[in-house]
Amino acid sequence: DDVAAAVADVCAAHGDRPDALIEMLHAIQARLGHVPPQAEPLIAARLNRSRAEIHGVVSFYHDFHTAPAGRRVIKLCRAEACQAVGCEDLANHLHRAHRLGSGATTPDAAVTVEDAYCLGNCALGPAALVDGELQGRVTAERLDRWIAEARI
Ligand code: FES
Repeated sequence: DDVAAAVADVCAAHGDRPDALIEMLHAIQARLGHVPPQAEPLIAARLNRSRAEIHGVVSFYHDFHTAPAGRRVIKLCRAEACQAVGCEDLANHLHRAHRLGSGATTPDAAVTVEDAYCLGNCALGPAALVDGELQGRVTAERLDRWIAEARI
């Protein structure tokens, strides 16, 4: 299947070297869009490591997603300058109104929310990246709209 083929190709391309695990995980994510849990035992077998070790690395790095991302990805800046202008209220709003904590995806796979740490848009905070596009002066209403749009 796709996962097995991706793991086999990527591990072979990195010579099955355990010290290249992070690069391999990035390559698998680039190919599949995420690192599926069923990839972990396959990688472990190739690298002669335990599944727990592989899982530990996947879960430690926030870069790795274990499920497909939503159709729309909202990265909300949580760094200092945006905190000073209310990004925590926005994060709470996402949590309360949409049950979207950091890293969460809506059950209908419409939206994924992630944290970002300074998007270089501090003067126009709170800042966010919505599908890769930089946004400033983010409000709860705009978040609601972005989420509603993704569900159409
Ligand atoms: Fe949010 Fe810089 S702190 S954009």
